[in-house]
Amino acid sequence: MKYLDYIKKWGTAAVVAVCLCTSCDYLDVVPPEQANLQHATSTEDRALGFLYSCYRGITATDPTWTNYLNEVISSTDETVLPYSWSADGMWDEYAFNTATAMNQNWIWGTTYQYVGQCLLFLQEIEKMDPNLVAPETVTIWKAEAKALIAYYHFCTLRRYGPIPITDYYIAMDAPQSEYRGRYHFDYCVDWIANQLDEAEQDLPTVREKSDEWGRMTKVITKCIKARLLLYAASPLWNGEFPYPQWTNKNFETPGYGYELVSHTYDASKWDRALKACQEAISLAESAGYELYDNEDFYATKQLPLPYVPGVTDGDITDEAAKEKFLKTVMKMRYVVATRSVDGNKEIIWGNWNHDMNGSYARLPLRIIRYTGGSWWSGYSGVAPTLNSVEAFYTKNGKLPARDPEYTPQADWLKESGIRHTFTNAENQSVTVNIANLHVGREPRFYAWIAFDGGEFAPKLMDGKPLNLDMRNGAIHGYDPTSFNRDHSVTGYLTQKFISPSIEFNTSGSGTWGDDAPSIQIRLAELYLNIAECYAAKGDVANALNYLNRIRRRADVPELTTGDVTSDMPIMEWVRNERFIELWGEGHRFYDVRRWALGAKYFGEGVRRGLNAASVTNPPRDTFYQDIPVPSPYVWSNRMYLNPVFYNEVYKNPQMVQAPEY
Ligand code: GAL
Repeated sequence: MKYLDYIKKWGTAAVVAVCLCTSCDYLDVVPPEQANLQHATSTEDRALGFLYSCYRGITATDPTWTNYLNEVISSTDETVLPYSWSADGMWDEYAFNTATAMNQNWIWGTTYQYVGQCLLFLQEIEKMDPNLVAPETVTIWKAEAKALIAYYHFCTLRRYGPIPITDYYIAMDAPQSEYRGRYHFDYCVDWIANQLDEAEQDLPTVREKSDEWGRMTKVITKCIKARLLLYAASPLWNGEFPYPQWTNKNFETPGYGYELVSHTYDASKWDRALKACQEAISLAESAGYELYDNEDFYATKQLPLPYVPGVTDGDITDEAAKEKFLKTVMKMRYVVATRSVDGNKEIIWGNWNHDMNGSYARLPLRIIRYTGGSWWSGYSGVAPTLNSVEAFYTKNGKLPARDPEYTPQADWLKESGIRHTFTNAENQSVTVNIANLHVGREPRFYAWIAFDGGEFAPKLMDGKPLNLDMRNGAIHGYDPTSFNRDHSVTGYLTQKFISPSIEFNTSGSGTWGDDAPSIQIRLAELYLNIAECYAAKGDVANALNYLNRIRRRADVPELTTGDVTSDMPIMEWVRNERFIELWGEGHRFYDVRRWALGAKYFGEGVRRGLNAASVTNPPRDTFYQDIPVPSPYVWSNRMYLNPVFYNEVYKNPQMVQAPEY
């Protein structure tokens, strides 16, 4: 049985069948023993299925881009959704500060449910007939369950802060006095790190067989540990937590008393994070992981190079440089849209990913008119903010606002004079005079951000490129009489994660293109993690060394120490590179929180867009205005932590609620 096939076909069923969980909180993680439990280990294949079911919590706790209504993906300043979608999913609760202890997203229940599943697996596997499976195999399985227990605790920790540690079965009839409360944050970190170290001993370095891809390895555990210790060294957990009075009342952490969070800066946390990053990188590189750098994959898929304003039709005379730029655009799309079997050695950990809803949410409205006259449409929902658009670098590798060679800010939204003429989805010839801000940018901008007059996927419209006509209410623009829910709020769309081979036809046939996993960990993140550690330690040379690996691969000019100034210090370069490179991959929600910069990036009025969703068929000057996104985004410090479901506090006298909930 293949791991990924199992996860997609049987994951949920197995959890229900094996776990028999009646409620989902950490006190009831382990169900009472059932007679049918013994079947779960009665053959090697069944026991393996039991182990696979332990993995099922990964996507539930750590949603990927396909889950566009999830708060981790859609409450940040990377993208915004139509306000009309605020009844759907949980994204608005975390963007508008309306999450409460009654309605919060019950990640906690899910993670502890899977911790329970892993603990049950570890218990039952001990009872398995030793003749059924080789002891070396059992040793690896146990290490996988242990690594997953650590990972699920980490997922809970980064949402809730200090948490109860669940490493043994709490009997159903245990007296309340035995319930655990939250442990000190640093204690939780040490415990998780230690579990990962122990699990790592018995895991294979990588998985040689493709049907085992996605299962725990030494490299994965080292990467999780590096990320854990980076988070722990970050400002929120290293002196800046804004609630000094918040402590336990009844429950004590060994060695810490009632304290839950340390309020003093400890430089050694960065040393420890750095060491973990070094170890993770060195093992990953020696195991063959490398930044994806295949410039020609698009050609093997019979795709043309994309249209990029100012490159395709600009005054670049060096044909080789032009081709390199356009190939890099395609390459950067494939970083997150290819599999290991396609030669992608960057993705260290990922999951099966087949949910087309996330693609619909990204695709423009009205893509192709079928022969019968009706339209095939996306939702135009996932809209990059102007903040994101301005964070990608210029072709000189600088922020547009800090590049002296770039168009002055006052002219960014004015016409560049580069006119793109194309046949739109209505079969009309349209000419868009591209805005200055959409010209002269770096390859990642063109790889992932889609804008008025630009191209969205090279074969999407009946084998031809779909070009965006964002002011036209009959096609991709705002017209509430045709679409009362769906429209791009900012005037931008994104094609990150969309397979470049996507193609739909007038006959109604089509393809979503190639499958790719949803990414949990890729090597670029490790380089950004270590760059951040070096930056925190003031080691500019080493921080630049790792940033430049990311930049070189993206065909962005490298940085030198001369670029590090008081206006743009090294930590700012690291954070912005991370914003761009990992844009939309589920990191921003946690990054901004651990940097203790919620108010700066997620505050009221901070998210901006074009004036794309107030007038149908707006004149150019109406559309091209820089305005705040008209939804009630707001930041409050209580949003650094998620509330715990009220019942957890009510029934457990050791448990304290997160501050201000
Ligand atoms: C669906 C609706 C789509 C889109 C989507 C957003 O229910 O049919 O048009 O609005 O919700 O999640």
